[in-house]
Amino acid sequence: YVMGVDLGTSAVKILLVDQHGEVAHVVSKPLSLMQEKTGFSEQDPKDWVDQTVAGMSDLLKRFNGDPADIEGISFSGQMHGLVLLDDRNEVLRNAILWNDTRTTAQCQEIYDVIGEERLLEITKNPALEGFTLPKLLWVREHEPEVYAKADKFVLPKDYLRYKLTGELQMEYSDAAGTLLLNVTEKKWSEELCDSLDIDVAICPPLVESSAEVGKPTPEIAEATGLANTTRVFAGGADNACGAIGSGILEDGKTLVSTGTSGVVLSYESSNEKDFQGKVHYFNHGAPDAFYTMGVTLAAGYSLSWFKDVFAGDESFEDFVAAVDTVPIGSNGLLFTPYVAGERTPHADASIRASFIGMDGSHKRPDFVRAVMEGITFSLNESIDIFRKNGKTIDTIVSTGGGAKNEDWLQMQADIFDANVVKQTSEQGPGMGAAMLAAYGCGWFDSLQDCADEFLQEDNVFTPNRDSVDLYKKLFTLYQKVYGQTKELN
Ligand code: XUL
Repeated sequence: YVMGVDLGTSAVKILLVDQHGEVAHVVSKPLSLMQEKTGFSEQDPKDWVDQTVAGMSDLLKRFNGDPADIEGISFSGQMHGLVLLDDRNEVLRNAILWNDTRTTAQCQEIYDVIGEERLLEITKNPALEGFTLPKLLWVREHEPEVYAKADKFVLPKDYLRYKLTGELQMEYSDAAGTLLLNVTEKKWSEELCDSLDIDVAICPPLVESSAEVGKPTPEIAEATGLANTTRVFAGGADNACGAIGSGILEDGKTLVSTGTSGVVLSYESSNEKDFQGKVHYFNHGAPDAFYTMGVTLAAGYSLSWFKDVFAGDESFEDFVAAVDTVPIGSNGLLFTPYVAGERTPHADASIRASFIGMDGSHKRPDFVRAVMEGITFSLNESIDIFRKNGKTIDTIVSTGGGAKNEDWLQMQADIFDANVVKQTSEQGPGMGAAMLAAYGCGWFDSLQDCADEFLQEDNVFTPNRDSVDLYKKLFTLYQKVYGQTKELN
């Protein structure tokens, strides 16, 4: 067996997986979030460790087998969160998370000091509030006494792994989201550190995602029931692990994941492409590979918001049941899904959503379909950027809430103009983490071989030519709305 630990924002999910990729046990433990002021989002790193230890302990009791049969463990983690440690590796303050947006001024400071062009050359990404470097600058400015004690910074799952093994490192796929890594050269950028007057020694040692980093400490083995022979592997960012867990392991493979936010992620073997910072460009968990990624901030959230306001407790299934009675284009109703701002392509946290084209004949199903179409148009903006930069996007694996409804999967195939694949068992980033452990343990020669054994296709939705043409016209209209509504916010 191998264990995949997915340290998310709302929960830590632990999977126990056998040699064929079958999930033997799953345990999930909730995590609490502190949002003290608008834009603030923090967690106590101790909570991650306590809940993971409790989850592993529950899982081992249910497993009821020989703990030594669990050969490896690896991790997937929420990206970008800043964990600051002193010279004894004690936590100095709460972690500031990926969805914390207090750092607009620090993003500007980064551009003022480095310049946007140079930042893109080094990190391949723009300065966004969610990334780690702006958070580090925020602490330096607002809590100088904390910053003065900081010896190292790490990311959430790296801290968790440190507490389980006593070994402190970061791996490339998560380091790529700090805005301090030279993504192409896979080295901390001394130039960035020097320009911003940050001691490069604050950056931890870097390892590969599948690198073996240690074994559970005696205290952890005691508290969880794990064997002290189990091998621990570094793991990856949740998006990198989501990609591995969906088999996005060679050029041409693309993933659409519709959770609260939506992600469009595409494998990239080259480190030399230039997307001008329009999409994220991060190191993959697969050795020497990359992925490009666009984000719709309010994907599933747009639909759950609409349901909560207009349908209350109704189940999702009932709520979306009538969308197939509404024609493509929702009888002239168009929705932009910016209820929490937008990341790709606009990087605009203050834009707000709109319904356009309402008339007296519209009923609730028209609105529901318009919301689903609007979310899918937003995801298509990322696909459009990939295609305009020369990527071939013909087959897309669809996961998350958006993959649970067949009408929505067909809508995705028609709007994306690509085959949309649904997989049989979908475990998300936790499966990617388990696959890193399986590969690390030497069960397979490559992550691709592991994917061939662990993952299976269920259904393929193919684009319907007439629908594709109709949606192309509507997408052009959709793209005009942002510019027209921007001034209204
Ligand atoms: C990626 C991002 C999120 C987090 C969520 O840039 O901010 O997807 O990784 O955990």
